Amino acid sequence: MKPQRLSNISTPALVIDLSVMENNIRLMAQAFASGPCKLRPHFKAHKTPEIARRQLAAGSCVGITCATVGEAEVAAGLCDDVLIANEVLGNDKCRRVAALAKSIDVKVAVDSEQGLREISMAARDANSEVGVLVEVNIGFRAGTQPGQPAAALAQRVAETDGVRLRGLMGYEGAAMGIPERDKREAAARAAVGRLLVSVTAVSDAGLPCEIVSAGGTGTYDITGRMEGVTEIQAGSYVLMDTEYAKQDLPFAKAFWVLGTVISRPGATTVTADCGHKSCTQDHGMPQVKDLPGATVMFLADEHAMIGVPPGCSLGPGDRVALWPSHIDPTINLHDMIYVAEGEHVVDVWPVAARGYIEQRRES
Ligand SMILES: Cc1ncc(COP(=O)(O)O)c(C=O)c1O
Repeated sequence: MKPQRLSNISTPALVIDLSVMENNIRLMAQAFASGPCKLRPHFKAHKTPEIARRQLAAGSCVGITCATVGEAEVAAGLCDDVLIANEVLGNDKCRRVAALAKSIDVKVAVDSEQGLREISMAARDANSEVGVLVEVNIGFRAGTQPGQPAAALAQRVAETDGVRLRGLMGYEGAAMGIPERDKREAAARAAVGRLLVSVTAVSDAGLPCEIVSAGGTGTYDITGRMEGVTEIQAGSYVLMDTEYAKQDLPFAKAFWVLGTVISRPGATTVTADCGHKSCTQDHGMPQVKDLPGATVMFLADEHAMIGVPPGCSLGPGDRVALWPSHIDPTINLHDMIYVAEGEHVVDVWPVAARGYIEQRRES
């Protein structure tokens, strides 16, 4: 790679501060270095093999968590133990998971008879075996009801050919974004309690439950310390965002969207080329980095309208940087990440699992 400086790269561009990211990775690995619970970092946060490689190399990891089959196919090149912490339905997707199961230990979440039927049929057709975690509804997006219903579905998994019951998962997503530690802790404990009640019901039925997976960046040291939880699916900690920065976490913001000012339409406004096609706003407006008193007022497709103090000298051609409010969808908008040490670009990493990679494969 020819030497480059951040001031020369084409914008909008995603930039990572390498040493801040590496410190985040180190801190999380340390948090799981001792104790029974381990880390299975979530690939969906960044979809970038070079980052996942560093997370695995730091230790304390049992494998990689993914949200999609496409991510799992990319992650399979990095690690032979992948959890798709999501229900997988549809012939094409189940077939791809069954194919992966021939070369790596891949597990999926199941919360319905239909889901079980589809994945087990695909595995039987491929002559492979797919691991299953029964997903328990602990108050968020998906999952079978806790307790006996979860144990009954686990029983069905255990009786079904082509799949192997590996354990249970739940996602305490409703607790994850609560800024106050005491309220977040109470909400996480209540939610994960429902998962653990289900673990007891499964074990009482004489069924195996070697994996109990839950957690995220906001609860890694709450859920990760609850007896019975074996692994944590945290993802955002690696690069953080302004939403997670509101919490009392030890991790620091390590990435931003770099833009160029293209206009100064008023005394207190500048317009940059980093609109919402490069930086999402689903968790709120991004914040302006290193420019006290500046705020993002509006994101259009290709334009960021930024309010600046009257004396601000920023003008056309100058660079501006935005801290995103939500890591996962922002990174998914970019093909590449520029890796910086100070002003120097030391590497460029492809966001290899971004978008719907199967569409690119078929085109
Ligand atoms: C199933 C699942 N596990 C874990 C996480 C936690 O990720 P993060 O650490 O980025 O909050 C998420 C985030 O949406 C998720 O959907």
